[in-house]
Amino acid sequence: MEVIIRKDKKAAVDLAARIIEKAVRETPDIVLGLATGRTMEDLYAELARKHREEELDFSLARTFNLDEYIGLPPEHPGSYRYYMNYHLFNNINIDQRNTHLPNGVAEDLNAEGGRYEDEIEHCGGIDLQLLGIGRSGHIGFNEPLSSLMSRTRQKALTPVTIAQNSPLFDKPEDMPKRAFTMGVGTILDARRILMLVTGKEKAAILAKAVEGPITSMVSATAIQLHPNTVVIVDEEAAEMLQEKEYYRWIFENEPEWEEFRK
Ligand code: GLP
Repeated sequence: MEVIIRKDKKAAVDLAARIIEKAVRETPDIVLGLATGRTMEDLYAELARKHREEELDFSLARTFNLDEYIGLPPEHPGSYRYYMNYHLFNNINIDQRNTHLPNGVAEDLNAEGGRYEDEIEHCGGIDLQLLGIGRSGHIGFNEPLSSLMSRTRQKALTPVTIAQNSPLFDKPEDMPKRAFTMGVGTILDARRILMLVTGKEKAAILAKAVEGPITSMVSATAIQLHPNTVVIVDEEAAEMLQEKEYYRWIFENEPEWEEFRK
């Protein structure tokens, strides 16, 4: 794992966007794993700008989102399908048929997780998985005690997560209490992981995720098991990391980061 500390949110978002841009230009039919949340809004705006102004082409790209609320149809403004269309898909030249989210209103909810896994497999697996982190330490909606080998399935949301996300609903009480989420095992199968974390309210959970012991109580700690993971953070989120100076040294000196230092 590598941790890269940027001076503020904008610089962190810019770097994440450049890494994704490079991956898309190198592999036009890339399979991207995508995340939602406030942290990703600026990142998607930057990718849309690169599409508009710098000819970043998504016409062959395929995407799989981490999660979706159960019970919300795609046209509901609180659904992650709505979020993705609004923040990204409507603003780039992606083929909507190549964009995938779990179906929160599937007729057979018990079969939906397996169906989603099959779709990912059919596309050859995820090349680059984007992750945020929730205050409960979740990735996707893998709440505490999610098995580190779990696959896409339904998950009941914790009070912490409900408190974090319900303000995003017009009526907070409308926020579903259950969601589909890729499992921790599904996420770890991605060929690369890119985590983006910003803001001081994430400092404590980020330190646990990156430097703490691996535990299903904090599903984000599972990324320590992944051989190709980069975590991009701003100074505020980095505040409680113990090895900050080491991480800075790596980014400033290792040849693989040279093109991204400018
Ligand atoms: C939701 C998503 C997570 C995301 C988290 C972070 O809970 N299911 O995948 O990491 O939000 O949200 P924010 O960026 O708003 O802090």
